[in-house]
Amino acid sequence: MRPDPSAFSISRRAARVAPFLAMDVLAAAAVKERRGEAVVHMEVGQPSAPAPRAVLAAAQAALAGGRIPYTEALGIAPLRERIARHCAEAYGVAVAPERVVVTTGSSAGFVLAFLALFDAGARVAIAEPGYPAYRSILQALDLEPVPLRLSAEDGFVPTPALVRAAQAGRPLAGLLVMSPANPSGTMLDPVGLAELGRTCRALNLAFVSDEIYHGLTYGVPAATALASDPDAVIINSFSKYYCMTGWRIGWMVVPERLVRPIERLAQNLYISAPYLSQVAALAAFDAVEELEAVKADYARARALLLNELPGLGLGDVHPADGAFYLYADVARLTNDSAEFCRRMLAEAGVAATPGLDFDPVDGAHHLRLSFAGGEAAAAEAVRRLRGWLG
Ligand SMILES: Cc1ncc(COP(=O)(O)O)c(C=O)c1O
Repeated sequence: MRPDPSAFSISRRAARVAPFLAMDVLAAAAVKERRGEAVVHMEVGQPSAPAPRAVLAAAQAALAGGRIPYTEALGIAPLRERIARHCAEAYGVAVAPERVVVTTGSSAGFVLAFLALFDAGARVAIAEPGYPAYRSILQALDLEPVPLRLSAEDGFVPTPALVRAAQAGRPLAGLLVMSPANPSGTMLDPVGLAELGRTCRALNLAFVSDEIYHGLTYGVPAATALASDPDAVIINSFSKYYCMTGWRIGWMVVPERLVRPIERLAQNLYISAPYLSQVAALAAFDAVEELEAVKADYARARALLLNELPGLGLGDVHPADGAFYLYADVARLTNDSAEFCRRMLAEAGVAATPGLDFDPVDGAHHLRLSFAGGEAAAAEAVRRLRGWLG
């Protein structure tokens, strides 16, 4: 006899977690593709380029070796050392390899950081619009996301005043920032980042900096919170600049006193990040030439879209300083971005993400276009959208 489904209930934590709309659009696009219809993918933040050749070669060599073991929970020593060297090379910041934690994508980094830093019920400030999984991971862990409302007028960057205002309600336990940001692509300059760090220290808040889009900037390089705040928790990943989304590999740099608590959590929650991906990722930092060529393609796609979108009525776009997204205010076309994106996929074959993923308030008249597919995909999207909207 089948068990009675009413005999168990879904946890309140699970019930609170909203769907990730970009992934729902991806699933709808896959259905269309299975029918043989071509889709231009601008919904997910995923490079269309493969991982660099040296990364693939390192993985193939490891596979040929045959044995794919668990590793130390904090990651293999050569990779932790290489990440520490990357911090010195990219930012001029000295980091002891012992402070580096290798994770299963930055997604696992958030879980580990939040569990290590916050007790149930703690309030954590996050950007809104912002990456939707922040809210969902916090909620799944019984933590309370506290949105900092950002807008195009303030350049979509959080300020100490916003943090202080959020703290004035009920005390916060932490602040999570990202620069370059998703979905707007805007960046905090070194002074703005340092001021937020100082505010956190003054208010006794944990300061978590998501630096996953570092390397993907179209003007000045991105600043790291490490440069101004040795106590900041840095979260990063091989997914974006390094074109390794499906390898599920990322890293954190954490203050010394967090290393052991995070190690205990990682040992029990995941055991270790995938060995194959760790070995492969070691080769990623030296693939600069290949990765810069991929970035040049993003830059061409970005320029093309910034040039063409206004003529399509999608011109209210914040010009991204980094990452690979444009966040467009489409108030003149719709006040239902989910329905608009559904029709855009069905009728024009262009997949985009409704702004509601990032912002439950103003997201109904925004959408996010990812140009991670490069110039050719952007040109095809413009051609299709011109036919559809024109
Ligand atoms: C801002 C931000 N942080 C984190 C992630 C998660 O990346 P991953 O788990 O692949 O490292 C994403 C993915 O799109 C993102 O946009």
